[in-house]
Amino acid sequence: MSRVAGARQVAYDTIRAVHESDAYANLLLPTSIARAWLNTADAALATELTYGTLRRQGTYDAVIAVASDRGIPEIHPAVLDALRLGVHQLLSTRVASHAAVNESVELAREAGGRGAGGFANAVLRRVSRDTPGDWMTRIAESARSDDERLGLLFSHPVWVVRALRRALAAEGRADELEALLTADNAAPRVTMIALPGLAEIPEDARRTPFSPHGFRLGGGDPDAVIRASDGRVRVQDEGSQLAALALTRAEPVREGERWLDLCAGPGGKTALLAAEALAHGAKLEANEISPSRAGLVRKALAGVPLEVPVSEQDGRIRAEEAPNTYDRILVDAPCTGLGALRRRPEARWRKAPADVPELSELQRGLLGAALSALKPGGIVAYVTCSPHLAETAGVVAEVRREWGAAVEELPAREIVTELSDSDPGLAPQADGSERAQLWPHRHNTDAMSISLLRRV
Ligand SMILES: C[S@@+](CC[C@H](N)C(=O)[O-])C[C@H]1O[C@@H](n2cnc3c(N)ncnc32)[C@H](O)[C@@H]1O
Repeated sequence: MSRVAGARQVAYDTIRAVHESDAYANLLLPTSIARAWLNTADAALATELTYGTLRRQGTYDAVIAVASDRGIPEIHPAVLDALRLGVHQLLSTRVASHAAVNESVELAREAGGRGAGGFANAVLRRVSRDTPGDWMTRIAESARSDDERLGLLFSHPVWVVRALRRALAAEGRADELEALLTADNAAPRVTMIALPGLAEIPEDARRTPFSPHGFRLGGGDPDAVIRASDGRVRVQDEGSQLAALALTRAEPVREGERWLDLCAGPGGKTALLAAEALAHGAKLEANEISPSRAGLVRKALAGVPLEVPVSEQDGRIRAEEAPNTYDRILVDAPCTGLGALRRRPEARWRKAPADVPELSELQRGLLGAALSALKPGGIVAYVTCSPHLAETAGVVAEVRREWGAAVEELPAREIVTELSDSDPGLAPQADGSERAQLWPHRHNTDAMSISLLRRV
């Protein structure tokens, strides 16, 4: 097997595992790459093929349906994945067409026999005859609405396109939708943090524009830098850094304050909160419902010399059991993750509109419980890595209605702007709230939503 074929086989096997056994590509791929002994260049190719194929699956399925004259459900799943991988190479990479066709046909033949090989050959040859532009025009013709057209062209489920359009429209920026969908399909650059007070940003690194502690390496291996730092330099999205800092820096910290990170796993923000607590003489506790993720929180805290107890409870119960206790609470709520689609290639296909009401009920429960665990005057940061209005503005509005004058909103947008080294240009929200909303296409961060509420 050639080296490129090795990369392709790893990509194919990973895509199959994602579809067959609900595997996560980002977790599985590193092990598969190591097992196949791929060198750095082939590992990069395997990653690109896997991520690109999974991300753009919606577009490729539309192309395959036209090129094969068959409905997608009629195609054997293992053969379909070989076709998707082939179409990705033909339409979105510089891999030579004959290699893309031949090796995908071979994968289809291994999966479904000679007939499947012949079918794949016919479909892929048909795809290879026209340009990517021609195919985009062709699949767009079948759309019955603009959202459906965008969904096909930018490979997003239509309900996600609609949700993103609404979230952008809430700040008068619906015209940025295509830029956002494009950003969702690009691999994010690795962003790191030097935990404040514990590590310095390397001199040759580029500082990030918005978080005062974020940076990106010009070159070199992030893992080597992390290992050398004893856990004080970490990979963390800039938006995630800003979310934790918005809470700790919303107002000066008084010595001895008690803080709680209610939904802490895997612990990225906990590590930053711990560094901040250490620097300002505050105490931090963390909670995470999943025991395995609670383990990751403990690991994330290894670089910070601060005792942080980690409990493993439902955050609603954990907070309700501790009324009037904390000065600051982070509710980084479980959410649809629609703001981090670029990070998890298969995520967009795994969520469904029905997840939203279920999650927003949980989110309201967690936020309400967190408010009851605050001392009067205490602050909660309600954060989601989703811009969906039902999970952001909707949850905050509903909880504020319940709490009435007992809760006031703090100017998160202004606070995030003041934290930033350059103006993030956060737009006011149509509902008049002070919520800060970051965007992949504007800020190169996950679409993090940050609201700050004070218990009066
Ligand atoms: C968005 S993630 C938190 C990310 C984390 N703050 C970080 O920066 O690494 C939400 C977490 O909430 C946890 N979770 C889900 N339901 C929960 C509940 N009822 N109580 C507490 N945690 C919960 C999930 O297991 C998940 O680890």
